[in-house]
Amino acid sequence: MGRYNWFTSQPYPLESPNPSYSDEEYADVDWDSLGFGLMATDYMYITKCCEGQHFEEGQLSRYGNIELSPAAGVLNYGQGLFEGTKAYRKENGRVLLFRPEQNAIRMKIGAERMCMASPSIEHFVHALKQTVLANKRWIPPPGKGSLYLRPLLLGTGPVLGLAPAPEYTFLIYASPVRNYFKEGSAPLNLHVEENFDRASRRGTGNVKTISNYAPVLMAQTTAKKRGFSDVLYLDSATKKNLEEVSSCNIFIAKGKCIATPATNGTILSGITRKSVIEIAGDLGYQVEERAVGVDELIEADEVFCTGTAVGVAPVGSITYQDKR
Ligand SMILES: Cc1ncc(COP(=O)(O)O)c(C=O)c1O
Repeated sequence: MGRYNWFTSQPYPLESPNPSYSDEEYADVDWDSLGFGLMATDYMYITKCCEGQHFEEGQLSRYGNIELSPAAGVLNYGQGLFEGTKAYRKENGRVLLFRPEQNAIRMKIGAERMCMASPSIEHFVHALKQTVLANKRWIPPPGKGSLYLRPLLLGTGPVLGLAPAPEYTFLIYASPVRNYFKEGSAPLNLHVEENFDRASRRGTGNVKTISNYAPVLMAQTTAKKRGFSDVLYLDSATKKNLEEVSSCNIFIAKGKCIATPATNGTILSGITRKSVIEIAGDLGYQVEERAVGVDELIEADEVFCTGTAVGVAPVGSITYQDKR
């Protein structure tokens, strides 16, 4: 793998980049105006497998549309998962991935829940690395953002009656990004949602299925129209405890103690969340994963959100029952 040094635990042998890849250091992008919009890059990774079989090594092809049967499981029954991770360019020219094996593990767990075939951990990480190398010129300069990587696992085989699809596609595309929220690194203003639940007990809130995301759009759009950055969900059973924001986890800090909702089936087990828990413990904080009451917000010294897209984002205000 030559001069590339990855954040992954084990080095992975990678063939030399295809000579047809551009050797330009950077794509022609105004790196200072990056947001979180899709910017098409050069290549995507794609491989398929039949139900009950293993994914074979895939290939990189030019980024572009894919062809699907109208009867594809993902189109009809939402049998799909996605992941999100980032590659960073360092000052010394190295490229780092942030804990990609954790995304691989999460996709595997999600695939079991959704009755889908999934790539092995090694295959997933290898495919990510290939996608990054092929799109290297789209990785922003150090400090100007990152290359967001979007692995997808889709039930692409045709199926009419409700059943697992007969064929699956594992695909990764990439886009350079910077700030997820228009606030940039300014504090977020959250609205506690009481009319809609994000997930229910014994549902799929803990897996990154595509079917968890369209249902939050209504609450999120309404909140944004009212000037909030995003929505904070409560647990559907009691409506008393915090769950998470539409696409990130939440923490409250008080003195040397930080608390975050426990992952017991309804919230996504974020990789940034896990990392913050580990780092905070190392820094001497008492870390609690437990039910966090909405009434604890008022007493907190600080509140922050964590996620691949948002990083670690400070929360400036939370509005609950019209009280800010
Ligand atoms: C619902 C939800 N919660 C939390 C997160 C944060 O997880 P991670 O830190 O792995 O990005 C995400 C994003 O992946 C998400 O979609």
